[in-house]
Amino acid sequence: MPAAGAGRRLGGGGKALVRLDGRAMLAHAVEAMEANRCTTAVVVVSHPDTLDATAKLLADEGLAKVTALVAGGPTRQASVAAGLRALPPEPGYVVVHDAARPLVAPGTIDRMLELLLEAGLAGVVPGVPVIDTIRRVDAAQRSTGIVDREQLRSMQTPQLFVREVLEAAYRLALRDGVEAADEAALLELAGHPVQVVPGDPENLKVTTPLDLAIAETLLARRRVSGGGVRGIS
Ligand code: CTP
Ligand code: MG
Repeated sequence: MPAAGAGRRLGGGGKALVRLDGRAMLAHAVEAMEANRCTTAVVVVSHPDTLDATAKLLADEGLAKVTALVAGGPTRQASVAAGLRALPPEPGYVVVHDAARPLVAPGTIDRMLELLLEAGLAGVVPGVPVIDTIRRVDAAQRSTGIVDREQLRSMQTPQLFVREVLEAAYRLALRDGVEAADEAALLELAGHPVQVVPGDPENLKVTTPLDLAIAETLLARRRVSGGGVRGIS
């Protein structure tokens, strides 16, 4: 779980420890990952400045499946690479899930793993349809036309992969000096097809103060309605 970002768009100072409905965002995200039968180990990658505070949080919250806490790097990709190095030897499948997505529904990766195994895929990643009309512009901001949004998906995490395929893709990226926004992009560069499955519009990424306000509202609503479990579609 990459949680080592600076949280600049939220105002700086990191965001994994920012509280949401009375609890650190990271705790919500780890708990949701633990709430899958297939999850045997969670590796948390935190900012070097918040390692101690994060260790305390994980202990206080009693998050039982966390096996390692390591320091992240200057980019998300470097942080995920640090997390991969700290994985226990056994698991054959790896999920990468951003701590910035604390609203992911329990059971999400159990369902994704079922699909990956059934269809013999190397990677399964959730995506949601794009709502806005998307327009391309030139350097002078003149419109150069509409992009067909039927062909577009906004990518989310958790992203699930066959471990050896993901590790090989990371080795290749390191060798070639490639930096990508997510793991799916690295797999594609390594020549592996990635299957997009319907994501969950409520699994939003907390990026700006507006997202934080929306996430608070959604969590409060779930608490009132008894925390019903939702699907990934
Ligand atoms: N992340 C990370 N290491 C980095 C950069 C990002 O582990 N060097 C993690 C973040 O902690 C987050 C996820 O990657 O869980 C997605 O990144 P983003 O939402 O962009 O978070 P930040 O980079 O923290 O925010 P900002 O870009 O606004 O600074
Ligand atoms: Mg960032």
